Amino acid sequence: MTDATTFVAPLEGGSVDMTAPFGGGGTLPNPVTTASGCAGYGRELAKFQPLAELGSITTRTVTPQPRSGRATPRMAETPSGLLNGIGLPGVGIAHFVENELAWLAERGARVVVSIAGERVDQFAECAQWLNDGPAVVGLEVNLACPDADNQGLAFARNPATAHDVIQAVREVADPALPVYAKLTPDVASVTDIAKACVRAGADGLSMINTPLGMVIDTDTLRPRLSTTAGGLSGPAIRPIAVRCVYEVHAAMRAGEITTVPITGMGGIRAGLDALEFVLAGASGVAVGTAIFHDPGAPLRVLAELREALAARGFAKLTDAVGHAHQ
Ligand SMILES: Cc1cc2nc3c(=O)[nH]c(=O)nc-3n(C[C@H](O)[C@H](O)[C@H](O)COP(=O)(O)O)c2cc1C
Repeated sequence: MTDATTFVAPLEGGSVDMTAPFGGGGTLPNPVTTASGCAGYGRELAKFQPLAELGSITTRTVTPQPRSGRATPRMAETPSGLLNGIGLPGVGIAHFVENELAWLAERGARVVVSIAGERVDQFAECAQWLNDGPAVVGLEVNLACPDADNQGLAFARNPATAHDVIQAVREVADPALPVYAKLTPDVASVTDIAKACVRAGADGLSMINTPLGMVIDTDTLRPRLSTTAGGLSGPAIRPIAVRCVYEVHAAMRAGEITTVPITGMGGIRAGLDALEFVLAGASGVAVGTAIFHDPGAPLRVLAELREALAARGFAKLTDAVGHAHQ
């Protein structure tokens, strides 16, 4: 299938089976989730859409202790993007489980909990809290945070440290709970990091976290963010993200990495953006920055993706996953 003229028989959008493969051999009713950090713990988003209609909701990253995040200014707009140096503010895992998770469970949400720590054992500590947690369908390990034992280099930038974190989490997490490794594109080979994570037991991969960027204010003559550099998100990074998903899915097809589901993210604003990720090899898609100006974006993207698949003659989401490789 190379262009619109090859679409044999468009289908009714409603007839497309949107069931999405999820790590550990499970499925979710549809592929759409929220990108971590872009929908808090779900409370604000629930005002705009029933959370149970999303495939899942991915929480902002939760750490062992509460954190206040970095000093302001911590956000700056860039051409087609957003730069943030927020620094993982959050309530801490105990408060999260007792209050936020319980609230999400009451709404029938399927929750992927993003976890992080400054040391390997802190990731495992968070994972342990989530065993038997109500509504938890998976863990997403945010490997982009700085490793306190490795001069602050992000865990995700080194195959060995990424491996150690995933192994530690996999060892303590409920075996029935899929563990996703969230990868950053700021590496020489994202495939090498993906390989290390899957070897360590990752049941799925989330790609991508924000690449580092920087904005300098030409009036104050200083960096715009208090953190100097920050994570770039939004449509500006979509081609990088699609490339990463494509590259890792290609390695799976070639047998270099055990095949696990990929959740793609980076600048998804509309159904056709999500379709790009699916064609590259993602069976899940996360909507992030788009939520800030359109809080209804996740469900809208789901409806548009369903229509886009139908218009191209795909009866099932899974038929389109990785189609660009054929
Ligand atoms: C304001 C903001 C906060 C974020 N916080 C987190 C976070 O807590 N944990 C995480 O893994 N990723 C975090 N991210 C990264 C997103 O989950 C996502 O990987 C990235 O923004 C790309 O998707 P997007 O372009 O659709 O936003 C954050 C992104 C933004 C913009």
